[in-house]
Amino acid sequence: MPASSLETIVSLCKRRGFVFPSSSVYGGLGSTWDYGPLGVELKNNVKRAWWRSVVHERDDMEGLDAAILMNRLVWKYSGHEATFSDPMTDCRACKARPRADHVFVAQKGRDPKGLVEINAAIAAKELTCPKCGSKDLTEARPFNLMFRTSVGPVDTGDESGLVYLRPETAQGMFVNFGNVLDTMRRKLPFGIAQVGKAFRNEITPGNFTFRTREFEQMEIEYFVRPGEDEAAHEMWIAERKKWYLDLGMRADRLRVREQEKHELAHYAKRCVDLEYLFPMGWSELEGIANRTDFDLKAHSRSPENPDAVGELRYFDQEQKKHYVPYVIEPSAGADRGTLAFLCDAYEDSLVKEPPAEDTAKLRELVESFARSVARREGMDADVKQRLQAAAESIAAGLPGTLPTLIGLMDDAEASKIEVMKKVRGVGEKIAEEHTRTVLHLHPRLAPLTVAVFPLKRNEPRLVELARGIKRDLQRAGLRAVYDDTGAIGKLYRRQDEIGTPWCITVDFQSLEDKTVTLRDRDSMQQERAPLDEIGPTLQARLR
Ligand code: GAP
Repeated sequence: MPASSLETIVSLCKRRGFVFPSSSVYGGLGSTWDYGPLGVELKNNVKRAWWRSVVHERDDMEGLDAAILMNRLVWKYSGHEATFSDPMTDCRACKARPRADHVFVAQKGRDPKGLVEINAAIAAKELTCPKCGSKDLTEARPFNLMFRTSVGPVDTGDESGLVYLRPETAQGMFVNFGNVLDTMRRKLPFGIAQVGKAFRNEITPGNFTFRTREFEQMEIEYFVRPGEDEAAHEMWIAERKKWYLDLGMRADRLRVREQEKHELAHYAKRCVDLEYLFPMGWSELEGIANRTDFDLKAHSRSPENPDAVGELRYFDQEQKKHYVPYVIEPSAGADRGTLAFLCDAYEDSLVKEPPAEDTAKLRELVESFARSVARREGMDADVKQRLQAAAESIAAGLPGTLPTLIGLMDDAEASKIEVMKKVRGVGEKIAEEHTRTVLHLHPRLAPLTVAVFPLKRNEPRLVELARGIKRDLQRAGLRAVYDDTGAIGKLYRRQDEIGTPWCITVDFQSLEDKTVTLRDRDSMQQERAPLDEIGPTLQARLR
């Protein structure tokens, strides 16, 4: 059963060291997250797999690592100072702050012709607050999403030291176009790839790591001859979709969506989104845009840009002329990708039927929870209906619905109901013994590749051999760990839950014939394998 709610993933991430709320010792900082020991491995593997695919395995790409702080003029001429903003309106009745352009499109069924038309509609009371229905909305104002800071030891009070935390990594690649072209002696088509942090003062961050104010992008700027841009765009749409599928993402949860005209960024001629079916619905994973020659022209010296020192253009030897290349930009989020791989890999199932009396007791408690929800006053009607429906269907389907109950036990809203404590007290114990949670992560993405256990931890010869195997696998470049803190069944379950594809158990036979048990996470099959073949076998499977 896949993750039914994001809460299930959030809970697993906290419990098993993937992602923690940031600054938690001071009560946290809304919508900011820290990647823990397993999360950093997973996210690094996602970034490594991307780099390998778009830089190392291609002949037409170069890498770059540009500074986060850039000359402010970059953001002036890229158009971000003027246009990287959302028009916001405040509802005087309920204090909601919706995006005014979204309200206009939803209620008028067409794009507004700029802020002036939005404000005319607000003044004429033609738009209503999407939350409470009031027509008492303030004039819409642009809210720039770039974080500002200043360079230098003295705050001069004016804007002379003003710099921005970059809102996209892309501009670092545009302003380095000439440097890469010259130093690497490239001919079109070629691209630049970059992974790095980006910052946006998002008005509505949320859905765990899906939308945050600090995040990481994996971006490509692919430069082509004008006229060859549309074919290159199609090529990158296919390539990028294939990358997710090759790393095991389910095809029925990945789709390609053409952006509508009103959604296009100020620089884009066309943009296609790759969307993933997250527990909260279809949402953007990556945008693949045709940015035309907008950015290179914008940063070239011209009457519109007297500040640039030169022109970002290309001399075509075949055509014997200069021109400004067009750009195709596949822009992916490392955090969103990581979250999508986590959601996609998650599975829980019932492996053993619990005793009938335990099931009956649990059913009674879940029914009592459903009744408490029904009686609860002041709860949001949607939440109430969702929790009640979930509890009633779980109670009717137990013990088969035990994995779904895990999701409900992790639900933040459900936790506000007193009886949930009792449900958890009984449910967690039964779930621990009778369900199995597995992350079916692609072996190249899994935080750990292999875990090594001795059959008995108080048997020094087994411990010594198991520790030695782990060291050898580490030296062979595999991410290996040793564990002896529980019975073998429990150790397997722990590794399944964090997505470790293989486990090795060292037993008494190992001492005699130098073979071990190799257990596969997905099939749970165990095979006897000669010790000296394990390293090369696992390395081959990772390729
Ligand atoms: N250079 C183009 C660009 O930045 P974008 O669609 O704004 O385009 C590209 O961002 C990708 O960056 C998104 O598809 C998403 O994966 C990621 N991203 C954007 N904003 C984000 C946020 N607030 N939190 C997490 N990821 C974000």
